[in-house]
Amino acid sequence: MHIDKYERWFMLATFIFLVIAAGALIVSVVGHHAALPEPAGRIDPDEVRTTPPFDQPGLRTAPDGSTELILIGQAWQWTPDEVTVAPGTEVTIKATSVDVVHGIRIPDTNANVMVIPGQISEIDVTFDDPGLYSLICHEYCGIGHHNMYMNIRVEES
Ligand code: CUA
Repeated sequence: MHIDKYERWFMLATFIFLVIAAGALIVSVVGHHAALPEPAGRIDPDEVRTTPPFDQPGLRTAPDGSTELILIGQAWQWTPDEVTVAPGTEVTIKATSVDVVHGIRIPDTNANVMVIPGQISEIDVTFDDPGLYSLICHEYCGIGHHNMYMNIRVEES
């Protein structure tokens, strides 16, 4: 079978591109720990504020000794709106929404997850460097969307 020279080049270019794309996928998953967040549980959106652990939003020490941030999203604010953690702390963020779809994005970290009513989203974030981190809503949720953020202070207590 005769394959035109140019067609052969394009086939080779396609193959190289596929190899690069597969390599990028492997690097992001293995090297940068990219992962699709799984729903960590279900919750009745109308009962969030009376359902543990969301009846006491904020930082807490979980039974296994880890640090958890219990976070409630509501148009257009997070509860709590500020927390302070020590440098190097791994924080398990457990979040849900009482109204519409929100999202969590913390620049300079791997945190990027949707926050959906009826569902508990869970993500682990380690704050190595001291500073002020903004947890921003990254799903458009209405007219106040751009004001929906909370602060995570990373400093020695
Ligand atoms: Cu909440 Cu955008």
